[in-house]
Amino acid sequence: MRTQRGCRVYLFTLLLAAAAQPSVRAQDQCLACHEAMEDKSALLFKRDVHFLKGLSCASCHGGDKSREEMDESMNKEAGFLGVPSGDEVSSVCAACHSDEAVIVKTYRSSLPVDQMASLTASVHGKSSIKGDQRIAQCTTCHGAHGILSKNNRSSPVHPLNVPATCAKCHSNPQYLRSYNPALPVDQLDKYRTSVHGKKNAAGDANVAECASCHGSHDILPAKDVRSRVYATNLPGTCGSCHSDATLMRKYRIPADQLVKYSRSVHGIALLQKKDLGAPACNDCHGNHGAVPPGVESISKVCGTCHALNAELFSASPHKKAFDQRKLPECETCHSHHDVVAATDELLGVGKEAVCAWCHSPEKSPGGYEVARTMRTFVDSLLAEENKATQLVAEAEQKGMEVGEAKFKLREVRQARLESRTKVHSFDESQFREVAERGLTSAAAVSEEAAEAFVYIRRLEKEQSSRGPF
Ligand code: HEC
Ligand code: HEC
Ligand code: HEC
Ligand code: HEC
Ligand code: HEC
Ligand code: HEC
Ligand code: HEC
Ligand code: HEC
Ligand code: HEC
Ligand code: HEC
Ligand code: HEC
Repeated sequence: MRTQRGCRVYLFTLLLAAAAQPSVRAQDQCLACHEAMEDKSALLFKRDVHFLKGLSCASCHGGDKSREEMDESMNKEAGFLGVPSGDEVSSVCAACHSDEAVIVKTYRSSLPVDQMASLTASVHGKSSIKGDQRIAQCTTCHGAHGILSKNNRSSPVHPLNVPATCAKCHSNPQYLRSYNPALPVDQLDKYRTSVHGKKNAAGDANVAECASCHGSHDILPAKDVRSRVYATNLPGTCGSCHSDATLMRKYRIPADQLVKYSRSVHGIALLQKKDLGAPACNDCHGNHGAVPPGVESISKVCGTCHALNAELFSASPHKKAFDQRKLPECETCHSHHDVVAATDELLGVGKEAVCAWCHSPEKSPGGYEVARTMRTFVDSLLAEENKATQLVAEAEQKGMEVGEAKFKLREVRQARLESRTKVHSFDESQFREVAERGLTSAAAVSEEAAEAFVYIRRLEKEQSSRGPF
């Protein structure tokens, strides 16, 4: 058994060797003649995937590859096309690559056959400035002779070479300005400052490159809702790698960002409520310069949207205290991927209060007392607001005019919300000012409602003493 199998393997090897012999290949007269001329296309072709698969120059250019004479082989009658140009170039490729029968049945390859359809529908399928052809042809990214598998380190579409391939156009300001003056040309420069870009330059093919985030044939404008980098799709795009626990274990970083983000107040707002004001991964990490925000810059990242909280924090006693301890600003209390809705429970000295992590009557009494006072205020504000709301509702039911009271109630609510933001001053007097304004308004509303009740009761009494008639 073993010998028979060994024999078969030997025979197979012989056949392979024979296939690579010039004498056997010599039946491709196109290659033979062009090689003899030291034609560059012929030299390159010797390492081309198509050559290795047994294809000929004639597979793309047409003609009769069995004829030795130039006039007979490169004959229009024999289907010779010459040098394709413009959109013909991609049509030549698509003749096979869009035809499942050819790729799968004839050549027994498992390659997908969607490249041409994707490319024509992509941003690169738009008409070029001159209007005579599409922006990109298959050969723009793959070359025409010496085409290699995407897994070959020398291929222009190998992950380590993709950035340079895209940058040929995207880092060329003169060229791109003629298409879209608003399009930045700094993607490669920024990318090289990111964790992805640095590792890619150092030879790590697992990190994100241009095509892992944008796609390759089906690239769409970033603002297109179907684009992989459109806000609502982006978390899934990053998650395709960052949720891969096996991959991330190699780098000793967690693979939980997407899961945590999806259930955070931000993830729910963006992914479920389609609120484009909520941050996707790139709002905090950057698009091309993706790095984790450092301790110094986290509040800046959050502050781009929560400007008031960030401003208050910067002027607060925590600013210096956190800087000294190298504590991130917002993240220390709210975390980052799993930011949850902020509740009053976070405030104060109770079990769920963040303040109690660091402040105790013994170790840090200043903060402890302020935390307790703030919570007392927030609680009584809520209680007073509820009480006033109740009274106004009852008065309204009894048919009293409550328009003004309702308007004042809105002020109470406003002050309560404002006070939650003012917590971030971590300053008792600033906080008190807002909270007391709310309490005063609430008291005024309750008082008005109470007066209305006194009036109603007096009316009722008068009516009952007068009797029904
Ligand atoms: C006996 C030699 C010989 C054979 C066989 C031959 N060629 Fe050529 N081919 C040439 C020479 C010489 C030129 C350049 C002269 C010219 O431009 O007409 C050329 C030019 C070309 C060009 C460029 C044409 C242009 O318009 O610029 C292509 C494409 C080409 N050959 C493809 C092929 C293909 C495909 C085959 C086989 C079907 C083939 N050749 C067979 C010698 C050969
Ligand atoms: C996979 C398809 C394909 C195969 C196979 C192929 N070519 Fe080409 N060739 C092209 C395309 C497309 C162009 C047009 C130029 C471009 O887009 O870069 C071209 C251009 C040329 C040119 C014009 C000069 C140049 O380099 O642009 C010559 C000459 C040529 N090919 C010869 C050959 C010869 C000889 C072979 C076989 C050894 C061959 N080609 C195999 C697709 C192919
Ligand atoms: C005659 C049919 C035919 C034509 C024409 C053709 N190809 Fe191919 N191509 C194939 C086949 C078959 C394979 C699969 C080779 C394999 O599985 O090893 C292939 C493989 C490839 C690959 C390698 C994919 C990978 O990563 O493994 C690329 C890239 C490619 N072709 C691009 C082109 C381009 C660009 C053109 C036009 C300039 C073109 N092909 C024209 C048949 C063709
Ligand atoms: C804008 C650059 C670009 C253009 C234009 C382009 N490709 Fe590609 N192509 C890539 C990149 C990047 C990859 C590797 C990543 C991937 O597979 O998506 C690739 C991969 C491929 C593969 C291998 C697919 C696989 O799944 O293994 C084939 C085949 C291919 N391209 C053919 C074509 C054909 C045919 C055209 C023209 C219709 C074309 N490409 C146009 C960039 C391009
Ligand atoms: C032949 C030059 C060329 C190459 C190569 C090229 N692009 Fe482009 N790309 C363009 C041009 C031109 C536009 C602008 C089209 C327009 O807006 O009219 C564009 C647009 C884009 C856009 C849409 C920008 C937006 O939001 O409006 C993205 C994303 C993009 N390209 C990514 C890539 C990636 C990724 C690669 C590499 C796989 C690549 N491009 C290769 C020329 C090129
Ligand atoms: C880690 C993912 C990622 C990588 C890697 C990446 N991009 Fe982007 N790209 C994005 C995101 C996200 C956007 C912006 C989406 C938005 O504006 O909402 C974007 C936007 C773009 C745009 C539109 C103009 C702009 O700058 O906003 C172009 C063009 C572009 N990228 C090209 C590239 C090129 C070229 C590369 C490789 C050098 C690349 N990208 C690498 C995620 C990525
Ligand atoms: C193709 C897979 C892939 C995609 C897609 C991808 N990444 Fe990465 N990313 C990696 C790998 C691998 C690392 C390297 C981990 C390391 O070295 O720490 C990394 C590193 C990072 C880091 C640095 C982590 C650290 O502390 O070292 C950040 C931040 C990051 N990615 C964010 C993103 C964001 C945001 C997106 C989407 C816009 C994204 N990535 C898309 C594979 C990917
Ligand atoms: C609201 C801002 C924000 C959003 C949204 C966000 N991140 Fe982060 N991310 C951070 C901060 C801040 C850090 C730094 C944590 C630290 O160093 O303490 C970080 C750290 C990381 C890291 C480094 C490893 C780790 O877990 O600490 C990766 C990878 C990462 N984020 C990926 C993502 C991905 C993928 C998404 C989207 C699914 C995302 N991030 C969404 C703020 C954010
Ligand atoms: C020392 C802990 C702590 C730090 C640091 C902190 N917060 Fe808060 N944050 C809280 C507490 C406690 C609440 C809840 C107050 C309440 O509901 O009574 C809160 C509430 C919020 C709210 C909801 C209320 C509102 O303002 O709309 C937002 C948004 C918020 N914080 C953002 C931030 C941002 C942004 C930063 C960084 C600049 C930050 N926080 C830093 C403790 C903190
Ligand atoms: C791109 C804008 C944006 C960025 C950046 C951002 N947020 Fe938010 N944040 C929002 C929006 C919008 C909501 C409201 C979501 C909802 O409830 O529908 C929100 C809600 C919150 C809440 C809950 C508020 C409440 O009333 O309960 C907290 C806490 C919060 N963010 C903290 C942070 C922190 C901490 C960071 C930085 C790590 C950050 N945010 C970065 C836009 C942003
Ligand atoms: C991560 C630890 C940490 C958390 C959580 C924290 N603080 Fe602080 N806080 C400090 C440090 C450190 C100081 C600097 C002075 C000190 O050591 O008491 C400080 C100072 C203060 C001060 C000034 C005290 C003074 O004596 O001048 C106030 C007020 C304060 N914190 C309130 C709060 C409130 C309210 C919360 C909860 C919303 C809170 N802190 C949460 C660490 C923290």
